[in-house]
Amino acid sequence: MNQPIANLRKVRSVELRTTAAADSADFYENVWGLSTVERGEEGAWLRGTGEEHHVLQLTAADQNGLGRITFAVSTPADVDEAARRLAERDIPIVAGPGPTGEIAAGYGVSFVDLEGRVVQLLADAYAVAAMHRADAVPVGVTHIVLNTVDIDAAVAFYTDVLGMRVSDWSEHQMAFLRCNSDHHSIAFNQAGWTAINHVAYEMPSVDHFMRGIGRLRHHGVLPMWGPGRHGPGDNTFSYFADPGGLVCEYTSGIAQVEEDRWLCRVWRRVPELSDTWGTAGPPSAEVRSHMAGVPDDGAFAHRPDLRELAHR
Ligand SMILES: [Fe+2]
Repeated sequence: MNQPIANLRKVRSVELRTTAAADSADFYENVWGLSTVERGEEGAWLRGTGEEHHVLQLTAADQNGLGRITFAVSTPADVDEAARRLAERDIPIVAGPGPTGEIAAGYGVSFVDLEGRVVQLLADAYAVAAMHRADAVPVGVTHIVLNTVDIDAAVAFYTDVLGMRVSDWSEHQMAFLRCNSDHHSIAFNQAGWTAINHVAYEMPSVDHFMRGIGRLRHHGVLPMWGPGRHGPGDNTFSYFADPGGLVCEYTSGIAQVEEDRWLCRVWRRVPELSDTWGTAGPPSAEVRSHMAGVPDDGAFAHRPDLRELAHR
C-alpha cells in the first residue's frame, strides 16, 4: 500500500476567492479581529495572533470559492518527497516543488484533489512573533469545512493521500478529519455541489469566544447560527456571513485526540448532539443557504484538463 505523501502538521492558511474583496478585507480587519499583513488591488493577506505569517488570503474574484488550503509540513525535504509521491500516484501538481516566491516565502508544492481544490504543502514559511492583544480576536484558522459531491471519495483521498484520520462521522452526512491532536482540521459535508462551507477561527477560550460575538453585535453583525456547542468535536460555534456571503465561524475548546485511544464514532444528527448547550436551536434556512455556497470548480474552472488528470 502507498504511504501518505506527507505528515501534515496543521492548517497554516486558507485562500478565499470573494466577490467582495475590499469590503471583506475591511470586515476581517476591523470587525472580525485579524490584522492586515499586506493589501493591494487584487486582495489582502491577514494574520491572527498566532505565529503564522498569514492565516487568510482574500482574492478578488467574480464568484465566491476556495482558492487554496495550505498545510504545514516540517521540511523542504518533506515537500520534495511529497512531490515524488504525488507523481507516483498520478496526482496533478500545479506548482512546485520549490521556493514559492509568495508573500510568506517558504518551499512548497501544490496539487489538485478530486474536486479541483488546490492543496499546498508548505515548509520554511516566514514565522512572525505571536501578538498579545487584550481584545478577543482569533489566533488563526483552526478548521475548514468543505462541501463535497462524494463524501466517501473525499474522505478516502484525504486519508489515503494526505494521511489524515477520521475522528468522527455525523451520520453519513459529515466526516471530521484530523492531522494533529485537534479533533478536526478539515471536515467534509455531503452536498449537491462542490463548495466551501465555512472557515473556523480559533478563539483562545470560551470567554474570548463570547466577547468576540459581543464585538460583532456592537458592529451590528449577528450570528446566523449560535452561539452553541457541537457534539462531534465538542467545540463552541457561532456562524456569521462575511460581506461576500462566505461563512466564518468563531470557535473554541475543540476536543483533543489522543491518537492511540480515540474511537471514531458515528453521531446521530439530533438537536441534543448538534447543539449540546441547547442555545442555538436548529440551523436556519439562511445559514444553510450560505453554507451551501455556489458551485465551485476550483482549479478545474481555468484548467479543464486537470479534471481528467485528477481522476486517472
Ligand atoms: Fe465549524
